[in-house]
Parts: sequence; structure tokens; C-alpha cells
Amino acid sequence: MEIKMRINYCGKVNQKFINCYVILYGWVYKIRDHGGILFIDLRDMYGRIQIVIDSKKLDFTKFVLAKKLKSEYIIKIIGLIKLRPIKNYITNMIDIFAIDLNILSKSINLPFKLNENKKIKEELRFQYRYIDLRRKKYINKLLLRSKINHNIRSFLHLNKFIEVETPILSNLTIEGARTFIIQSHKTKTLKNFFALPQSPQIYKQILMFSGLDRYYQIAKCFRDEDLRSDRQPEFTQIDIETSFMNQQVIINLIENMIKSLFKDFFNLNFSTEFKKIEYTEAIKKYGTDKPDLRIPIKIKDIAFPKNLIHLTGLQSKSNNKNNRIAAIKLKGGVFLSAKQIKRYITLVQEYGAKRLIWIKFYNINLGVNGLKSPIFKHITEEYCKYLIKKLHLKNGDIIFCCGDKTNTVNHSFSVLIAKLAKDFKLYIKQWAPIWVINFPLFKCDDLGILTSYHHPFTSPAPKSKLDDLIYNPAQAFANSFDLIINGIELGGGSIRIKNDKLQKIILKLLGLTYTKINKNFGFFLKAFKYGVPYHGGLALGLDRIVMLLTKSNNIRDVIAFPKNNKLFCPLTGEPS
Ligand code: AMO
Repeated sequence: MEIKMRINYCGKVNQKFINCYVILYGWVYKIRDHGGILFIDLRDMYGRIQIVIDSKKLDFTKFVLAKKLKSEYIIKIIGLIKLRPIKNYITNMIDIFAIDLNILSKSINLPFKLNENKKIKEELRFQYRYIDLRRKKYINKLLLRSKINHNIRSFLHLNKFIEVETPILSNLTIEGARTFIIQSHKTKTLKNFFALPQSPQIYKQILMFSGLDRYYQIAKCFRDEDLRSDRQPEFTQIDIETSFMNQQVIINLIENMIKSLFKDFFNLNFSTEFKKIEYTEAIKKYGTDKPDLRIPIKIKDIAFPKNLIHLTGLQSKSNNKNNRIAAIKLKGGVFLSAKQIKRYITLVQEYGAKRLIWIKFYNINLGVNGLKSPIFKHITEEYCKYLIKKLHLKNGDIIFCCGDKTNTVNHSFSVLIAKLAKDFKLYIKQWAPIWVINFPLFKCDDLGILTSYHHPFTSPAPKSKLDDLIYNPAQAFANSFDLIINGIELGGGSIRIKNDKLQKIILKLLGLTYTKINKNFGFFLKAFKYGVPYHGGLALGLDRIVMLLTKSNNIRDVIAFPKNNKLFCPLTGEPS
């Protein structure tokens, strides 16, 4: 049976319908009153159209009514679609000549103007989100989000994935953030709580134990962590799990899904496979596990004359496993002023680097005489030649060198590279996807305390030895993979542990007692005893995908009702 619904929208009426009658519903955006004739910009979610209200063509009482219209009144119009003699800035070649008009709802003055380009305080925008979303720019983000959802569902259904919902009132897992705890009046007295899921991780694995083979869910996840421009406490994942697929097959699947999104939304064909890089190499070259390949700067290890090592900030005499001496090059950077350089030095100091040495290469043919640097007098001709060759330097380049603990050098340079790219607009204009694979299994702090790099259900790398894992866990690698686009982590996944013995060892290495392991994960470990397939999967941050595709700087813009940075909902005033 055909369902009769509204088919005409202000933003969708076009020249095909010239001389037809149309019924339109919309919000009054602007009114221009020329006495006997009114021009109204009428707006709905798809766009605007000009309505002409001519006293000669409309019933007198209706014209009087039209004179009472104000901004944001909701009206119903019946009118005739006419071609305009000249183009109009709102609706090109079309006007609607009203033959009937009704006011359906009135509005008081808005708290802010609906001008698309006006900058409005975010707190106010989200307090009046229903008004904020009347602006095309913002409603378009939600429309695109809906299309992305649809596109992903179609792709996964086509590839035989089954959509399954998992509980929101769920159990405690360990996924790196704090968990929201939920109380019920029924369990309060018993001091029992539910946890809100940080992700459906355990449930989706259990679905594989059931033989479900290919699962997906557009899943709500909850994490009580510090908020950033790409983090919300309540966000959405495209959560995927598969059986009997290895890392490469899962990567191919997800890559094809992402490519189909780019094809549909930007008509963009990635001609080759996404790049892939081992975690260790990513850290070495970019200082981060989220490399932004649009920035053409890489970190390179350099040798430093032994008698000068103290100048780098390093206490130790050598460049060994825990220490690193490295440099980055900014092409044509000799123009940097002392003030600008000072700012960069202060920046890396915030990340723990003791020193940042700079050397400007004005004329490489003049050797040391062509340089400028605070360590100028220590640089020999030989070392100057070495740097020029090692870093492929040209006239006009500047290099920054840093020597410190490896983590400090990596972190400092990754921040400095991002800052230089921003300051000097170094980004190459292209999408830059990359898979970072085979992360460490654990992060290890200075006290030797281990936490999972991804989560405790991640399988160690294929050829790992159990003894090495137990006696040297900080050196263990995982069978894991993250998808990064333009320096943003869109998703992460892994092949999972498939036996209870290894799963227990990992939980124990993470510092859980056997009592706690049994209490929190006993049900899960029990399930391992009944046959577990080789399985693995991944979750993509849907909000981050929408951010990327709508070129939004803030995750809040792509969520209908976001929380602010203080975990507060400006619309409802929660939590209260
Ligand atoms: P992970 O913790 O890496 O993996 O999360 C997967 C993706 O979810 C997005 N994301 C977020 N988006 C917005 N706000 C947040 N607070 C937030 N936290 C994470 C990111 C991230 O890459 N269960 C595993 C997946 C798996 O192993 O299958 C997991 O949740 O885009």
C-alpha cells in the first residue's frame, strides 16, 4: 500500500513544477513588506523559497493575516509556482504566488539570529539546540550522518553481516576509560550496580562463540573520561566482529567499507590500497601512532658528536634504546624569527624535552659559514656535511634537533610537527588514510604497571611465546590494527584471544587478582570451554567519521544533543 505523505518542500521545489499548485509548510525566515505586496523567505530543513503575497491575489482577511507574520512563525501556504523574470538569490528562478495562507504556530524572538555564518557561543547554541538545528549548515551534518548510517548498513548487509543489539545495562569491562555506574531501586539495597558499556566488546565475542559468524551493531558506548574535540562521554561505534578471518581480511573489509563511503559522498576513488605501517615504524617516523600523512615532515635519527651530546639535553653519553637523538626539517624555514623559535622551544618543553636545538642552513655550499645556530661554534665542517647529507638539506632549510628519553623526543616532535603544519599550512590537500598495525600488547608506566594498549581481549602477535609474554610482557606485541585518516584515529581492532588459559594470564598481568578475574570475567572464561572460533573485529567511531566527512572541527557539531566539555547538557541542564 502506498503511504500518502508530504512531498513538497521549500528546498525541493524546482522549475519542473512551473505553473503547478503546491502546498508548503515552513518557518518564516525573512519578510520584506512593500505595502500591498509581501515577500517571504520560507524555510524548511531542505532550503528556502520566496513566497509572494499580493493583496490583489489573496483574500483580504488572509492578507491581513499575512501582515501579522513575524520571523519563525510556522505557516502553511497554498500557491502557484511561477518562473521569475530574473534570478533570485534564494530560489534562483522560482517564486510561489500565495493563494491561501494559514498561521500554524507563533514564535517569540529568537535568542540568536539564524545567520549561517554568524559565530554564536557554543553554550547558547546547545542550550537552544532546536533553534541551532534550524540552520542548514548544522541540519546538513545530521542528514549526512543518517546517510552514512544507511550506507554502512547496506554495505554490511550485502556482505552478510547480521545486526544484533547488545545490552546497555551491562557488566564491567576494562577498556581504558572509567565506567559509568548505574543503580536501580531494585538492586540498591543489595549494593549491586550495572555498568554502561564502554563498548560491546565481550558481548560481540560471545556472539562469535555462538557461531553467529558476522556481527555488526551501530552501538552506543559510554566512557567517563576527559573530553576533547573528538571525544564525547556518550558516542556511537560501528562495531564489527567476525569469525575465521585474519587481520588482512578484516582490514580489506573495513577498507572497502570506507572506500564506498568516500565514493558515495565525494565521488572519490582511492586508486590504491591504504598504506600500512607497523606501530614501531610509525612512532620512529612520526613520533605518534596517529600519523597525519598530509604533513610532509618526518623524524630522523641523527648522530651527535660525543663531546656535544650534553647540548641536546641528554645526560647520557649515547643514543641507545631508551634515549633518542633525532631531528626534523622545515623546508625553507630560515625565515623563522627568534620569537617564533622561542615559542616552539617552549612548546616542546611542555612535553618534557629539555632542549630544542635549531640550525638554519642559509647556504649549504659555504659549509659552517653558511649556518646560523646557537651551537654554531661547536659545529665542525665534517658534522655540517653529515647533517646536509643525512637530512637532504637545501639552502633555506631549518632543522630542529632534540635528544632525550625516546618517549619524550617522540612526543615532543609529534606535537611540534603538528604545530608547524598548522602555522605554515603544510598540509597536502588529499585524504590520507593509513593502517597502523601490530601495537604493543601493553603500556608500561615508570613503576612497571601494565595496562592494555587496546583492551585485555587482544591476541598477542601470531608467533609470540608464552614464556616471553609472562617474563617480559612490556616487550610483547599484539595482533592489532588501527585505522587513521588525516591524523584522526577512526577505528581500532584486533584478533582476539581464543583460549581461557591465555585470557587469564593477560588479566593477571594486568594486575587483577584471581578473585576479581572470576567475579568480573568468570562467565566469559566459562564460555571459552565450549568451543571458541578464531575471531577478530574492530570498531569505528561513527561520530569521528561524520566529523571527517563533514569537515567539522568538533564532535559536538555532529551529535544531535551533545554534552559540553564539563559533561553537562546545556539543553536539559543534566546532570542534576
Ligand atoms: P576503541 O576503544 O579503540 O576500541 O574505540 C574504537 C573507536 O571508537 C571511537 N571512540 C570515541 N569516539 C568519540 N568519543 C569517545 N570518547 C571515543 N572513544 C573511542 C574512536 C575509536 O577508534 N572494543 C574496541 C574495538 C574492538 O577491538 O573491536 C574498542 O572500543 O574512533
